[in-house]
Formats: sequence, C-alpha cells, structure tokens
Amino acid sequence: MSAETFVPASPWRASVLTLFPDMFPGPLGLSLAGKALATGRWSLAARDIRAHATDRHRSVDDTPFGGGAGMVLRPDVVDAAIAAEIEAGDDRALVYLTPRGRPLRQEDARRWAAGPGVVLLCGRYEGLDQRVIEARAVEEVSIGDYVLSGGELAAMVLLDACVRLLPGVMGAAESAEEESFSAGLLEYPHYTRPAEWQGRAVPEILLSGNHAAIAAWRRAEAERITRERRPDLWAAYTASIASTAGAP
Ligand code: 6GU
Repeated sequence: MSAETFVPASPWRASVLTLFPDMFPGPLGLSLAGKALATGRWSLAARDIRAHATDRHRSVDDTPFGGGAGMVLRPDVVDAAIAAEIEAGDDRALVYLTPRGRPLRQEDARRWAAGPGVVLLCGRYEGLDQRVIEARAVEEVSIGDYVLSGGELAAMVLLDACVRLLPGVMGAAESAEEESFSAGLLEYPHYTRPAEWQGRAVPEILLSGNHAAIAAWRRAEAERITRERRPDLWAAYTASIASTAGAP
C-alpha cells in the first residue's frame, strides 16, 4: 500500500499549546511530514494559550514568587488550555518542551508514534508554574544541551521524529534504514556518481560487487565513526554486543 492511499480510521493527533500558533505547521507543512498531513495520516492543531487568559489585559504570565528575573506562565491559564484540549478518554501523552526536561530519544518517538498522538505544551519566558506540571503529570522533555527562546522549534523536532515513523509515511527503503540507527551506530559514509570527483575516488570496495565485503566495510566504518564521534553510543553498543555474545 502506498503512502498516498494509507489513511487509517483515526489519524495520529498532535495538538500544540503555544503563545505563537502562527509558527505552525511551519516546516511540518512541507516534505514528508507535510505530505502525510495533507493526506490525513496525522492531524495538527495549534492552540493559542492566550485564548484562556481571563483578565482584561489577557495576561498569561506573572513575576516569580521569591523574586528573580523573567516571568512565569500562570498555572490557571495553562491548565485551562490543557483542559480545553483533552476530552474524556483522550490517552495522548502530555509533554512540556523545556531545556530542563529529560533528553528526547529515538525510543520516545517510537513509543509516541505507536500511540494515539501527543499534546505538546510550549513554554516561553522563564518557565511554567511547577504546580500545573505536577497536577497534570506532565512529561518534561528537552531536545539538547542548549537554550532555545521557546519550545515551539523543539515541538516541531519531536513531531517530525514521530510522524516519519507512522505506518505508510515513509517507503520501505527508508524504514529499513531506520533499523541501522536502532542498532546503535551512526551511519557509514555514502557515495554516488561520478566514481571520481575532484581527484577523489570512491572507496574501491563499493565498486567490487561483493555484497558481503561491502556490508562488512560499511559496518566497520559505522563502528569507527561512532567510536570517534560518540563515545557514549559506542560504550552502549559494545556493552550490548558483549551481553548478546554471552547469551546461550
Ligand atoms: Cl525543549 N525548549 C527550549 N526552550 N530550549 C531547549 C529545549 C526545549 N531543548 C533544548 N533547548
């Protein structure tokens, strides 16, 4: 079945609660995710948190108790935005994008893609009142060790990682490629025509037609690159190899 014709009974649902709904769909409206959105494989609703402000000035934030710089998103306003989005029986994960969250991993994307969808809460300012995080059992997730000016770009990263895993969104070739990351290694180098370019030749082995030798070379290159660039991934990989080798 092709990606164009695969339309499930209940599409995977994403809702984003944000002060900048106009940022969406943004890049998610293009390319692979955009095509899947247009064909109804998933849905995206960007909701304005400010629509739930109650005072005359439509305020969504206030100064922090205890003093200090910046502003904090009010728990009452954010809770109302969440309540308006989650109906009874809605089993979607509720995730707050914040640099203080636990790191986003491929396994999170796999888990969320396998479920009914996600409700993403985007912060701006210094943060969100801790009580709404606890009262709603919100999962806090970060996309890396750097600071963005808001959670919106991080929400787009999370959604892209999930949507490409939905059945029918990618072709079989790319799906198989996914498994190479699952093996815990970074990708080996890729080459295409011309066989020689600016005096640089493609590695001889790739022109040999010896598929077993090519697979072994690619594996060795993936291991070398992982060892050099990501000691953390390399340690996890060697540990998993050791435990597999020891198994009966
Ligand atoms: Cl999820 N949000 C913000 N504002 N900055 C970040 C981030 C998230 N992840 C890394 N930096």
